[in-house]
Amino acid sequence: MSLFDATMRPMILAAARNDRIRQTSQRTAMTRRVVERFVPGETQTDVLAATRTSLDAGMSVSIDFLGEDTTDESQATGTVDAYLALVGAMADIPETGLPAGRLEVSLKLTALGQALPRHGAKIAEENARTIAAAAHDAGVLVTVDAEDHASADERLMIVRALRRDFRDVGTVLQAYLRRTEDDCTEFAESGARIRLCKGAYAESPSVAYPTRELIDEAYLRCLRILMKGNGYPMVASHDPVIIDAAQAMADEFERTPDSWEHQMLYGIRTDEQQRLTAAGRRVRVYIPYGGEWYGYLVRRLAEKPANLGFFLRALAS
Ligand code: FDA
Repeated sequence: MSLFDATMRPMILAAARNDRIRQTSQRTAMTRRVVERFVPGETQTDVLAATRTSLDAGMSVSIDFLGEDTTDESQATGTVDAYLALVGAMADIPETGLPAGRLEVSLKLTALGQALPRHGAKIAEENARTIAAAAHDAGVLVTVDAEDHASADERLMIVRALRRDFRDVGTVLQAYLRRTEDDCTEFAESGARIRLCKGAYAESPSVAYPTRELIDEAYLRCLRILMKGNGYPMVASHDPVIIDAAQAMADEFERTPDSWEHQMLYGIRTDEQQRLTAAGRRVRVYIPYGGEWYGYLVRRLAEKPANLGFFLRALAS
């Protein structure tokens, strides 16, 4: 394991849950410059402008209204309202003649109330159902993001319940979790849309593979299950080895180009997003927006050693 992975990464991820560092970071102009690289803005207008750019470049989008760890019910209701307004605005985006399913929203169940002490799971499910119904009517897809390991069982239970009414609701599975091959098997058999990522939270080796090598191997095993299965694999990775392996597996299992897609985050490897699109692959860009960007930013900084300098300079300024 590299020194960065063993020491710095867990420290940076711990900062995601530190209120004092969050408040300091949100005040500095330097942090704002770093944020702009990964988040196009705080308003719906900002995210719709970024969406337009991606659609015009031939890509699909998934929009995330930033927020997590909601501590009171009114905050969760505010998040639902933001998604309903967003879905309404997405329904008005002029048809560009490209395939259906180009517009998607991504949700975090903790932003919808999952961690509330009383009836959190029930509240989150009802909130997610309200958004899924509006999205369904507007022709917008929904995918439920993956958060920390402790919330995974409940999240997948909610996703199964949502899929009984809205078959297109997808979810994220994190290859670094030891459980994920089994989850891939279940969801691939049921024909689900599954976004496979490596995983971005600090997890214990008892539940997650501890090294990049083991995580990469696990990713490829999980991807093979999804590509072989009946669902719609969404390959959420910027890693060139995984991007190449995905096409090789799609060929092996005789998948057509419209039966799976690549996904990347806004601001990361934009050239590669364009290259894949030009090569005829489906590419979706995940675009976050909103004022609650701190946790998202910290996870992006923890993914790459070179990003650490930005973060430290931001805190010092
Ligand atoms: P890896 O980390 O090996 O990076 C490969 C290359 O990509 C790097 O060498 C670099 O060039 C570039 N790169 C990657 N991250 C970068 C960064 N932050 N800054 C600059 N360059 C970078 N996680 C999670 O736990 N729950 C979730 O719901 C999601 N959702 C999600 C959606 C989508 C669409 C994507 C693409 C990713 C997620 N993730 C996520 C994050 C995911 O788990 C993972 O942390 C990142 O994608 C980084 O892993 P890669 O597979 O890109 O490979």
